[in-house]
Amino acid sequence: MAAHGLISDERSLTEAVIKAFEDTEDERLKTLMAALVRHAHAFVREVNLTERELEVALDFLVGIGRATHDSHNEAVLAADVLGISTLVSLRCNPAAQGQTAAALLGPFWRAEAPICEPGENIARAPIDAAPLFVAGRVIDADGQPVAGAVVDVWQASPHGLYENQDEMQPDMNLRGRFITDAAGRYRFRTVRPRGYPVPTHGPVGDLLARQRRHPYRPAHLHFMLSCEGRKTLVTQIFADDAEYLDSDVVFGATQSTVGQLVHHAADADLPARYTLDYDFVLQPGTRTFPKPPIK
Ligand code: BEZ
Ligand code: FE
Repeated sequence: MAAHGLISDERSLTEAVIKAFEDTEDERLKTLMAALVRHAHAFVREVNLTERELEVALDFLVGIGRATHDSHNEAVLAADVLGISTLVSLRCNPAAQGQTAAALLGPFWRAEAPICEPGENIARAPIDAAPLFVAGRVIDADGQPVAGAVVDVWQASPHGLYENQDEMQPDMNLRGRFITDAAGRYRFRTVRPRGYPVPTHGPVGDLLARQRRHPYRPAHLHFMLSCEGRKTLVTQIFADDAEYLDSDVVFGATQSTVGQLVHHAADADLPARYTLDYDFVLQPGTRTFPKPPIK
């Protein structure tokens, strides 16, 4: 065991703690924990953290744990409203070679959404909202089609709830996986998304209220694009006329992921509707999947 010696004063404490981690076998864990301690101690010093404030901070963490269960993940929500999820997502997925910008996963993705036929409607129950036809291509940075890519899409109902938050919706409502054709094309039908508030019943909601921040996300569709030999892309496409685009509570909206929702009047073949055309650019890499944040 690495002995760090007696603690002589507050100044020597930080190095003593880091020395105590010396025997950690996993080098990455050792690096992460040492940096975490360095930054956390610097934070304590910078703000002159009081004993009472430490108590409040630890209560906040306990509250996150207590509010988290199979169908709600307060830890993901906390990382999201602090901008940490977006920072990690943007840093790990630089859009340098023209790839589509990534966006945070959010707490509501489910693995194994139904595999759908091209053009299928993912609204699995009647919904009072304008139809939306979404289509586009999955391509590489040279504009070549990516055939056989899985386009996994999910969205909240117009009432602002995902199907796994809402007993009134059928299982897998507003979720589906579409496979791109030889030209990299995908298409599906859904309803126009609306903006909605993130859950505010837990400590994260209390924090937002104390910070005088609204809890809303601009209207968006979530996408996860995956294919063998390509880096999985998790992103969101935002309605260009959405409220809160410039004040997304989880900082997910970026310039390049704003999509144009075009209105079309009813005609002989189709009802009044919106269309969204969006091409996704993938980069070479490894196909991976996240762990679903809730059941
Ligand atoms: C979402 O877009 O589904 C979401 C993202 C972060 C927090 C809550 C919801
Ligand atoms: Fe969402």
